[in-house]
Amino acid sequence: MRRLEIVASGERYEIPSYARIDLVPVRAEGSHVYDFDGARYLDLYGGHAVAILGHSPARVADAIAMQARDLLFYSNIVHLPVRARAAERLCRLAPWPDAKAFFCNSGTEANETALKIARKATGRSRVVAFRGGFHGRTLGALAASGLPEYREQAALFPEDLYRFVEINASDLSAIDGTVAAVIVEPIQSMGGVRSLTRQFAHALRRRCDEVGALLVFDEVQTAPARTGHWFAGGLWDMEPHMITTAKGIAAGFPAGVVLAQGSVAQTVRTGDQGTTFGGGPLACAAIEATLLQMEEMDAPARARAIEERVRRRLRGREVLGHGGLLGVRCPAKETVKRLREEKRVLAATCPGDGTVMRLLPPLTISDAELDEGLLAIEAVLG
Ligand SMILES: Cc1ncc(COP(=O)(O)O)c(C=O)c1O
Repeated sequence: MRRLEIVASGERYEIPSYARIDLVPVRAEGSHVYDFDGARYLDLYGGHAVAILGHSPARVADAIAMQARDLLFYSNIVHLPVRARAAERLCRLAPWPDAKAFFCNSGTEANETALKIARKATGRSRVVAFRGGFHGRTLGALAASGLPEYREQAALFPEDLYRFVEINASDLSAIDGTVAAVIVEPIQSMGGVRSLTRQFAHALRRRCDEVGALLVFDEVQTAPARTGHWFAGGLWDMEPHMITTAKGIAAGFPAGVVLAQGSVAQTVRTGDQGTTFGGGPLACAAIEATLLQMEEMDAPARARAIEERVRRRLRGREVLGHGGLLGVRCPAKETVKRLREEKRVLAATCPGDGTVMRLLPPLTISDAELDEGLLAIEAVLG
């Protein structure tokens, strides 16, 4: 197949749900992606925050391949050595000594599951979420998303079930004794790389404790380690009651996880939640290998170093976010397009704010690669 034929075939046979860019990757390694025609791109977008260890990291790919030969799949009615090891490694990094994990397949499924657990644990049904937030495309997670063009697709839920608040607002009266869960991204990514303040993060937790609601941090983009801490609460020395994660957790293999502190986890009863593929052997092999490599390289420290370097090199520009989830204030759509077309550098826009370009590089990016990308950004922004 030629490049043109691949594009034509995709358009002919796939439901047209995505706006696609002019890139047909056939191979990727480390921080680089290679197009069908051989052109090499520096990926500061990290395949949408997924390629946290760069593209096709050898250790993760090997772990998946070895596991596939030993036991490609068995269901959740059995204990698996690889699942037990992945769960232990993950829970040891979690902010609570009695953490427990529920494995699923994606970010949206992790959020659905966390909301379901919160409803069961509190006996309530209302959810408080935030304007500009994004939690996924399945109906429950979508209804909690505060970006209007996405949320409208979930109009089947009664308006009253979801209340929306501004992040960093001083009025938290929407969180009352009828609320099961408060779900928030510690850094709103699609919304424009808008971070919670320390004061707000603490106020949220305090308010949830006062009224008996559960605070869920949607760390689908930010955990593990992208913020410069294994989990984002580390930025502000606090912790939520539950954390959801996906994207980078298995470095590119599809996986999602809900982490809950023990007292919340123990409200879940046999049969409350389930999934066929979640916690499958391949996902768990990928999670285990990802976490091993991240611990060895001290991934949180590397994320902090990336932020420091970006802020230093782009001095004079407004840089938002933390660690390896950063926003640069600029005309984002035009800048992202020019970076790709003129400099072969990939970055992302933010659907919620056209004035912010997002950088989500692999945490394995070298200083030289990062500098190359930042020079390209400076050249395009002029
Ligand atoms: C913060 C956040 N939550 C949830 C999701 C949904 O994750 P998934 O696409 O794996 O369902 C995303 C995806 O971009 C996200 O950025």
